[in-house]
Amino acid sequence: MLVQQNPEMHRYEAIDADEVVGFINYELRDGRYWLVHTEIDEAHQGSGAGAFLVRMTLDDLRARSAVIVPTCPFVAGWIRRHPDYGDLVDNKTLGDFKRSRNETTTRATKD
Ligand SMILES: CC(C)(COP(=O)(O)OP(=O)(O)OC[C@H]1O[C@@H](n2cnc3c(N)ncnc32)[C@H](O)[C@@H]1OP(=O)(O)O)[C@@H](O)C(=O)NCCC(=O)NCCS
Repeated sequence: MLVQQNPEMHRYEAIDADEVVGFINYELRDGRYWLVHTEIDEAHQGSGAGAFLVRMTLDDLRARSAVIVPTCPFVAGWIRRHPDYGDLVDNKTLGDFKRSRNETTTRATKD
């Protein structure tokens, strides 16, 4: 399996035998990579493909001196378990995002 960036589709792809079997979608905002969603094909789930995709993606982003905002819970969870990748994260922007999302949820619940 290999992982490569597909800039046209704004995603990192996990490729196995020439087939895309998973991806991490990102959005480029204010010079930061917002990692918003991860998906692995059902047939490849549960065998470490997702974890490999995250690691390779973050290694590539580190090589680009990128700053990331991991709003995807799977990526965020992986980084929590691998604290040596924590320095890539813009914690202030991530915290602001989470607070604004919680406020929206609270308002939606009240109304
Ligand atoms: C979530 C998903 C990307 C994980 O990919 P995967 O290849 O099955 O994951 P791995 O086999 O690499 O598992 C890595 C670790 O993540 C954990 N994990 C699995 N699904 C998880 C999830 N949704 N959130 C957090 N952790 C998860 C696993 O338990 C495993 O932990 P371990 O290493 O301690 O055993 C995949 O199951 C998927 O595409 N699911 C449907 C879409 C989705 O829910 N995406 C995530 C939200 S953005």
